[in-house]
Amino acid sequence: MSRQMIVGNWKMNGLRESSRELVAALLAGMPKTGPDVVICPPFTQLALLADSLASTSVGLGAQDCHQDPSGAHTGDISAPMLKELGVSHVILGHSERRQEHGELDETVREKAVAAAKAGLTPIVCVGETNDQRENGDYTDTLGWQIKGSLPDGFCGIVAYEPIWAIGTGLAATEAQIAETMTFLRQELVRQFGEAGKAIKILYGGSVNADNAVAILSIPEVAGALVGGASLKADAFLSIVGAAS
Ligand code: G3P
Repeated sequence: MSRQMIVGNWKMNGLRESSRELVAALLAGMPKTGPDVVICPPFTQLALLADSLASTSVGLGAQDCHQDPSGAHTGDISAPMLKELGVSHVILGHSERRQEHGELDETVREKAVAAAKAGLTPIVCVGETNDQRENGDYTDTLGWQIKGSLPDGFCGIVAYEPIWAIGTGLAATEAQIAETMTFLRQELVRQFGEAGKAIKILYGGSVNADNAVAILSIPEVAGALVGGASLKADAFLSIVGAAS
């Protein structure tokens, strides 16, 4: 089995000093062998942390990129700009961007193309709302998101983040995760054939030091995308320690 991956999504958190301290604490406690670890600070800390992480095993990711390589897009950041800073991964289509910035599957797909073209690994997020889960039609949503957000020849990572589990302290149950992972795998194979079997699927949504072992033991869970708990060195290191 390939190594699991733990990704920390800091979201809109971290000024210079606190970012430097958090990374120093993470590096001090990082196990010598273990999962792949990537941290995704806000854009403003990428250059600083690129220096701190240079020649360490911890990768640097961003939380979004524009679909164009350059141009008249005020306030946006392109994939080549991220690449130049030493970024290796980029989170795309997070539900907070889909909801707060009206990002559609088509835009996410274009961003995934742009990221790959610049040499970044896209981490494309999918996930259903609470209503969709309760109505039982969440597989429709997930199916459409997979179909619409992943470009032909996709070579990135998928993150399953049920929206109702994000930041709520209420992670999906092991049964829900296992069943949804199986569904997502089927969709990936339907869309990409044999190549769909190799696409890693992470779980995200209230992963913490207490539930990490159980979640990361579920077959098909290739790792975790961690929000709140990635802002505390101890919690994040426990999650890293729970991964293989
Ligand atoms: O991208 C990570 C995320 O949305 C999950 O956040 O705080 O529930 O771990 P959290």
